[in-house]
Amino acid sequence: MLNGHLRLPGDKSISHRAALIAALAHGSSEISNFSTAADCASTLSCLSQLGISIERKENKVIFAGNQKLVAPRRALDCGNSGSTLRILAGVLAGHDFTAELIGDESLSTRPMRRIIEPLELMGARIEATDGKAPLKVHGSSRLNPITYRLPVASAQVKSAVLFAGLNAAGTTTVIETLPSRDHTERLFNGFGVPVKTTTDLSITLDGPARFTGGSITIPGDVSSAAYFVAVAMLLPESQLTIEGVSLNPTRAAFLSVLTSWGADIATTDLQTERNETYGTINVRGGLTGTAAQPDRTLSRAMIPSLIDELPLLAVVGSQIPGGIRIRDAAELRLKESDRLATTAANLRAMGADVEEFDDGLAVSGPAQLHGAKIDSHGDHRIAMAFAVAALIAKGDTEISGAECVAISFPEFFTLLDSLSKR
Ligand code: S3P
Repeated sequence: MLNGHLRLPGDKSISHRAALIAALAHGSSEISNFSTAADCASTLSCLSQLGISIERKENKVIFAGNQKLVAPRRALDCGNSGSTLRILAGVLAGHDFTAELIGDESLSTRPMRRIIEPLELMGARIEATDGKAPLKVHGSSRLNPITYRLPVASAQVKSAVLFAGLNAAGTTTVIETLPSRDHTERLFNGFGVPVKTTTDLSITLDGPARFTGGSITIPGDVSSAAYFVAVAMLLPESQLTIEGVSLNPTRAAFLSVLTSWGADIATTDLQTERNETYGTINVRGGLTGTAAQPDRTLSRAMIPSLIDELPLLAVVGSQIPGGIRIRDAAELRLKESDRLATTAANLRAMGADVEEFDDGLAVSGPAQLHGAKIDSHGDHRIAMAFAVAALIAKGDTEISGAECVAISFPEFFTLLDSLSKR
């Protein structure tokens, strides 16, 4: 069983955006509970190389404010972080210098045309090789505002255009096909850049925008919380409380999915910080009433708000009577690994029955998983999803490359160990 109380390091997506806003703001900013993820350290180190002075005090990150981004002397290394590379490209698009963005092997295989197209429409010029990183961004402080319909549901692309829009003269509009995580819109409004969102999924802001920094405490990372919620629900007699965690509706959708699959989950103490909702998650172990839920397909509009939790939901799905299906999720093939393939192969290695489609998976359940050798493919979310599977499996599991959890959640194994009682 899993027992105890947790508070988690700050949300990765919110931390990236808060750091970028603080770097561009007039006046100083103090970010508390900043993410401990290697990805967010990549954002901070790129900003330092762009001439932004950043002071670190325990879990606080302090920005002096009134600083100007300057041309970096060497390539900006975004590591494994898609959010760093794509959103920072949007920031750089609006500055009068050239900067090169590079990433690790995985990031260098991921599609970048999705940001190159809108940023070039706005007037930046971006060199790439076959639409992939390294990217050379030739920015301009005279960007054109555009109205852009996103061809893929991607918060990173939306955010790249909105950050570029801060430096465009006029109204920038992004139209989404399906709602994706909305931290950029919420934080812009929270820091005084009016952003309008409408029910037809269009988001507008007027540039050039001037805004003032300030203090913010980043709520705990709900995607990190997901692994603990899953372990607690799958191990009977568990009782877990996670406090101060982000409950942004575009991120916390997995909680209602797990509840509909029979989990006992409650959220309490809802509060807001700079337009972001956070609160407490309470989980009691064991499943109830799953037989009454015949269709457990995750598809279409649900996918963007579950995107990072889908490998974990596939693992949980192997324990649900009747199993689960995931469709319309081809984007998963373009993440840190091909997450449809790596999830299917690893679940099969543990004895689950999985069918793989171009855009999803069908996982039969309930299955008795057995220990196996798991390949994380250097993908943090695969390593953590299969650490959850290992806890409910019979026998020992070995996860290769498990240290990659540090990309989003360096404390993962230590915390899991301290809360689990076998
Ligand atoms: C993120 C958006 C999502 C998500 C990623 C973080 C963000 O990617 O998978 O982990 O911070 O905006 P896409 O925008 O590619 O869907």
